[in-house]
Amino acid sequence: TLPIAVLVSGSGSNLQSIIDRIEEGALDAEIKLVISNKASAYGIQRAKDHDIPYRVLLHTDYPSREAFDQAMVDAIHEAGVTDEGLVVMAGFMRMVTPVFLKAFANRVMNIHPALLPSFAGVNGQADAADYGVKISGCTVHFVDEQMDHGPVIIQAAVPCQAGETEDELGPRILKLEHRVFPQAIQWFAENRLRIENRHVELRVAGRPCAGQP
Ligand code: GAR
Repeated sequence: TLPIAVLVSGSGSNLQSIIDRIEEGALDAEIKLVISNKASAYGIQRAKDHDIPYRVLLHTDYPSREAFDQAMVDAIHEAGVTDEGLVVMAGFMRMVTPVFLKAFANRVMNIHPALLPSFAGVNGQADAADYGVKISGCTVHFVDEQMDHGPVIIQAAVPCQAGETEDELGPRILKLEHRVFPQAIQWFAENRLRIENRHVELRVAGRPCAGQP
């Protein structure tokens, strides 16, 4: 069972999808800690409802990004997520520094509501709708030092209708997020993800598998 820490800043619907898959037995992970950097995040309530340990760490309480990241690293380690575990950013709207990434090298995943490298940032759905793209979607990737950037694990696409706004597109993308994020975490739990030359390879029976299943 993979020990994971989940970082949230908002509603936590992706956190909920992870909780649900674990409770159904479809995801072999245990959430050891939920961290929110916002006191008002509904994700905290979701953790409480499922008896999952949680911490609210406010970045405004720390003198630097590095100090905040170190506090998160300490909390995650104390909760029992170390070299064996995974950190999952589920709507965590803050970039992390090398302090964090060195502590969890190639063990931090993020989900983004657009087909990266298009429309990184905090308004991925709106930016895609405004641009008028005909296809958008979501991306799960390993995190590096740039925003919404790093080796891609899985993407899922949705067609966009002409004139569609973020209000229409966003929920359709979110539905896909709730499917692919638990899937990516399960692959990690099964030790099937390898990073080669900044590309993620999915393994089947220990061998590379062609394409994206
Ligand atoms: C999700 O759409 C996620 O992809 C996005 O925030 C939302 C959080 O929703 N993340 C980013 O935009 C990262 N740049 P949730 O709190 O209901 O899971």
